[in-house]
This record gives sequence, C-alpha cells and structure tokens, in this order.
Amino acid sequence: MTRIFDALKKAEAAREAAAPTGGSVTPLPHSPAHSQGRAPAARPLPDSGRGPLPLLGGIELADDTMREMAALRVSLEAVLRDRNPRVVMFLSPQGGEGTSTVALQFAQALSRDPSVRPLILDVNVRRPAFDQDTALRCAVIASSVAPRGPEPPAVSSNLFVVPSPEEVRRTGLYQPATLRQVMDASVPGFDWVILDGPPVLESPEASALGALADGVVLVVQAGRTKRPVLTRAADLLRKAGARVLGSVLNRRVLEIPEFIYRRI
Ligand SMILES: Nc1ncnc2c1ncn2[C@@H]1O[C@H](COP(=O)(O)OP(=O)(O)O)[C@@H](O)[C@H]1O
Ligand SMILES: [Mg+2]
Repeated sequence: MTRIFDALKKAEAAREAAAPTGGSVTPLPHSPAHSQGRAPAARPLPDSGRGPLPLLGGIELADDTMREMAALRVSLEAVLRDRNPRVVMFLSPQGGEGTSTVALQFAQALSRDPSVRPLILDVNVRRPAFDQDTALRCAVIASSVAPRGPEPPAVSSNLFVVPSPEEVRRTGLYQPATLRQVMDASVPGFDWVILDGPPVLESPEASALGALADGVVLVVQAGRTKRPVLTRAADLLRKAGARVLGSVLNRRVLEIPEFIYRRI
C-alpha cells in the first residue's frame, strides 16, 4: 500500500514561485545546452552500444495504487511543467523501503498511457532492481524486488529500462559523470525518465546522483523511518544541490477499511 502523504506540497510551492516564462529555469544537466561547455568524456560509455531495453513483465498495480500514481503524476507534471523530458529520481533514506517498487509502479502507471514514453534508469549498483536478459534482449525485474512467476510474462512494449552497466556494478559505485554519459546516450526519445536510486544514508554517491535529476521524490516505509531520518536524508540531498520535491509513504497499513478511509 502506498500513500502520497505530503503530496509534493513543497513542489507546489516551488511551482508558484517559478518564473512564468520559464526563463529562469536551469538547463537539464544532460541537456545539449549544458553539454556544450563540458569537457569531452575521458572514458568511453560503459557497456557502449547497449541502449534501453524493453521490460519483460511488471509488478501488480492495484486500482488504489493506480490512483495514487496518477495523483503523483499530476503533481510532478505541475512542478516540472517546463521540462522535457522530466527526469525524476526516486530515493529512500535507507535500503529496503520500497524505492524500486514505487519507481516501477510509477513508470508502469505512466506506460499505460500510450502517449507517454517512460524510461527507467537503474542507478543502484549495490542492489540492482533490473537485470539484462541477453538472450531475449530485454530487461527483467530482479528477484529481490519481485519474485518471478513460473510463466514468462509478456513484454510491456511501452516501458524501457537501462539496467546498471555490469562494469559499474563491479566498481560498486555509480559516479555522477557516468550517469551523465548514460543519460546523454539513452534519454533522447523519452519524455519521462525515472531514476531508481540508492539509499541516501547508505550510499556516498546518492545525493550527487540526485542532483542530476530535475527533482527527487523520497520514498519512506511507513512505521519504519522516523521523521529525523527523513529530514537528514532531505538535508543531505539539498546540500548536494538536489531538488527535493516531496515524499511518498510506502506500505501504509490502514487501520480502518479502505472505503471508510476514503470518506473521511
Ligand atoms: N508497497 C509494497 N507492497 C508490497 N511489497 C513491497 C512494497 N514495497 C516494497 N515491497 C517489497 O519490499 C522489498 C524491498 O523493496 P524495494 O522496492 O526493493 O526497496 P528498495 O529499492 O528501497 O531497496 C521487496 O521485496 C519488495 O517487493
Ligand atoms: Mg532498490
């Protein structure tokens, strides 16, 4: 069960404060405008030649999850209305809170709209959520996120994934410069880019990676993460230059039936 709790209210405030012309908007870190002033890449792109792969299968999207993901989309579109593509990183303070699950739910919900081209970039090298099926030339969901059923699931034609490159996994550290290269190579043609990030308080690179996105959504497991921990993660991200848009409360347990909850 996922609930958007502060529903990106900070994001809404930022939207109101933004210049109406969009003239003050900083170029995306990976946009051509930004790339012009950058020194040429010193090293070749990891796994060069490997582009986005169609995702084989998916996770269950219940009706209430679909509604919550639709609400999240509306909020993010409002605050990132000048962006194309919209680059959003999902992050948690600690591992296992549900970052990959919520990021995938959001991307899958987007992919049900045929007018949207979503891409997931897996940037958590220590606990990847996606693997590459070389024989089928597809991405598959790692068993740590969702166990695979006995039947091969159908390919979701509209959702593409770039798993973390094998050689980056071996180093155990996804450098921001590498992410810029991967984004430059794989993002064109997509209008939503969902980054599945590593836990902020356990990964030295997480905040710097978050600063490369247009905004960050913090995923917090209900009943586990206390507010000071969430605040510490948000502070670290902001210090690194990331824009924290809001938070999502994952696995919230309702103490009263859902239909009553909706009426109060
Ligand atoms: N809303 C949810 N409902 C059911 N299971 C969940 C939910 N969120 C996470 N999980 C499970 O919890 C585990 C950790 O989730 P994951 O998304 O991999 O966390 P993270 O990416 O933050 O490490 C996985 O087994 C996942 O299936
Ligand atoms: Mg994960």
